[in-house]
Order: sequence, then structure tokens, then C-alpha cells
Amino acid sequence: MPLLARRVGRAKPSAIMVVAEKAKRLKSEGRDIISFSIGVPNFLPGDHVYAAAREALAKDSGQYGSNRGSDALLDAFLAHIAQIGLNGYERANIATGIGAKHVIFNLAEALLDEGDTICFATPYWTSYFDIAEIVNAKIDLLPCPPSQDYKMTPAQLDAALAKKPKVFLFNNPSNPTGMVYSKDEIAALADVVAKYPDTWVITDDIYNRMVFDGLGYHNFVHARPELRDRVIFIDSLSKTYGMPGWRVGFMAGPESVAKAVATMNSNHITNIPEVVTAAAIAALTGPQDVPTQKNAEFSAKRDQVLAMLAEIPGIVCPRPQGAFYVFPDVSCAFGKTHGPTGLKIGNDVDLCNALLEAKGVACVPGSAFGEPRALRISYTCPTPQLAPGLARFKQFFDELQ
Ligand SMILES: Cc1ncc(COP(=O)(O)O)c(C=O)c1O
Repeated sequence: MPLLARRVGRAKPSAIMVVAEKAKRLKSEGRDIISFSIGVPNFLPGDHVYAAAREALAKDSGQYGSNRGSDALLDAFLAHIAQIGLNGYERANIATGIGAKHVIFNLAEALLDEGDTICFATPYWTSYFDIAEIVNAKIDLLPCPPSQDYKMTPAQLDAALAKKPKVFLFNNPSNPTGMVYSKDEIAALADVVAKYPDTWVITDDIYNRMVFDGLGYHNFVHARPELRDRVIFIDSLSKTYGMPGWRVGFMAGPESVAKAVATMNSNHITNIPEVVTAAAIAALTGPQDVPTQKNAEFSAKRDQVLAMLAEIPGIVCPRPQGAFYVFPDVSCAFGKTHGPTGLKIGNDVDLCNALLEAKGVACVPGSAFGEPRALRISYTCPTPQLAPGLARFKQFFDELQ
């Protein structure tokens, strides 16, 4: 039999989905499962989004569309990013894709030749690692432990960029940690970025509307507008508008890069379908009450999760200020046994398995994000499930011996 390409061997199925699948299976077997595992927003977009999709369906031309995205969609996105102070971009600076993941994949192909280096922080969003592996890039990880609030320091970034990577990939607010860089922190990192003109910077900021505590969202381009010719901003409808399955992602950056992404599109997806485009425009330009309400709900849920974790001796958890994740260091449990079930906890994967088996609570092991001392709690579950899920989590830790 002929062999598959080597890059397939480098691509791994998402570790996040493995836990979610196991939780689903247990649920189908009749177990009472509360899932804190998957990073979906768990709300639906407003009615105006569905109305726009229905109207577009009635008028659908059934034809191919623009590789870059329709002009109306590009304009809606331009207006959207102007609201967060990313002004002065034009259509030529924008490209779309089938979700932010696809845009990042396109960028990896457009910016990285085999053997080029990409650097990013640990903990990282799982797909960064896998996409870099698929395009056969060298990966330089910057460890950002809880003792530095899971954030990279300017000195760390300076040391990494001094090695002249082709791409620096940054994520703010972060999945999996929920941490958000302050205005001053962004300014300090932007000063470092400015010293290294040969490195492209991708800022995957798809949670930019989900920032709590009045901290605000900040980008390197706000701090240093001259970086605009190297910084590529990534956004998505998935989390902000409760539209992960609609698959719409964007980039705003230098014209040459947007053109390269559109060229990639022309060779695989061709275009985002008309009906999806209409829904996306409605989400971006319509009433913003759903995202605003959800933001308030998520920050309250974040507080509930943190309050529970604070009651467990040994758990260390920097306070997240965005997205909908909490990422506690749970290594205090390693080497212990869960009394009632006798399940032994050697590492994060054992811990997540035992928690699921014993209490029906699904979390994602931190090793999926390059940080095996932690686990990720995604707190977007229906509100009535949150308190019982947290109580079970706490009880599990109380029962460790
Ligand atoms: C940090 C980050 N970037 C990108 C994505 C992908 O988003 P999309 O659904 O637009 O592909 C996710 C999804 O979980 C994410 O957490």
C-alpha cells in the first residue's frame, strides 16, 4: 500500500476533543455528566442573524464568491475593528477564512517555509503546535508558568526574538489561561517587537470582546502604530457571537499578507458561502446586546469558579480576566489517590480521567496546552450546571488521600 504523506503523521487529533468524546460517551450510557471541557460559547446568536441568513437563502445566487470575502463583509469587519481602535485599515488589508483556525493555518503556510522558526508561549492553544508541526516549522516555546501569571515577560520575548524567528504568535486573551495583558504590558512587549524587524507577529485575539474588570483590550499596533506593517490581527465570530459552527474568521494586516491568504483560499476553499456571509454581516453590524450580556455573565461565572478553587488547599490559580477559561495548577494532587474509587493520580491526564469517572465532571488536561501541571475549566456550561459541577470538583479534591 502506498504511504501517507509525512505531514499526516505530524498532525494529531485534538486532545481537547478526546476528553469531550469520552464525556459524550459516558453521557450516552446514562451517566450524569457536567462538561467543563469544550471551549464553545454555549449561546446562540441574535434572531437578526438567522433572519439575515434566511433572507440570503431566498436570494442565494449559488455562485462562487470572492476569495478574500465579499466587499460588504470586509466593510462590516473594518467597522467592527475600528470599534476597538484598529483604524486606518482598508479592504486590501483584510482576508477571511473558514474560522480563525483556517486563517491561522493559511498564515502558517503563507509565512513559514519548512524549517523556519515560530515562537509562542506555553500554555498555548493546542492547534498552534499542531499547525506548526504540519507545516514542518521549528517550534520555540516560551514557558510562562503560573508564577508569572502565565504571561510572557519582555525579557523572555527579547531572548526569543533575538534568535530571529520568522513568526512570533501571540494570543490575548489567552486560551487556555483566560489571562489578559494590560495596556502597559502590551506596550512593554511592543517595544521589544519593534527591535526585531525581520519577524512577523500574529496576534490571535479572537476573545478581544471578552475582557473583564474594565481592563480593556490592547494590541501591539495601539502601542506602536509603526508595527502595522508586520502585525497580523486575527478575529473570529465563533466566540463573540456564539457562532462557532458558522465558521467565519478574519485577519487584518499588511496588504501582502492579506493577498497571500486570499491566494491560499483560492486554492482550497474558494470563498465563504453567501448565506454565511449574510449572517456574519448581520452579527457584526447588528445589535450587540447578546455579546454584551454574555460578557457580564462570564465574568460572574469566572468569580464563582475562582471562589471554589480558593477553597482547595494547594491549588494555585492566577486570576483570569477574559475569555471563558480558568487554568488552575493542580499539581498538588499528583501522587495522591482518590479515596472512594482508589484511582491513582500520577499526572494531569489521570486527574481528568478520575474526575470524570468518579464525579462525572469533564475538564481538559493541561498537557493538551503544553502545561501538564494544570487543567482547563471552561465555564460556559448552562448556569444551573455550574454550581453542582464546581461542588463535585471540590468534593473530588476533598476525597484525595
Ligand atoms: C485562541 C484561539 N484561536 C483560534 C480559535 C479558533 O477559532 P475559530 O472557531 O474561529 O476557528 C480558537 C478556538 O477555540 C481559540 O481558542
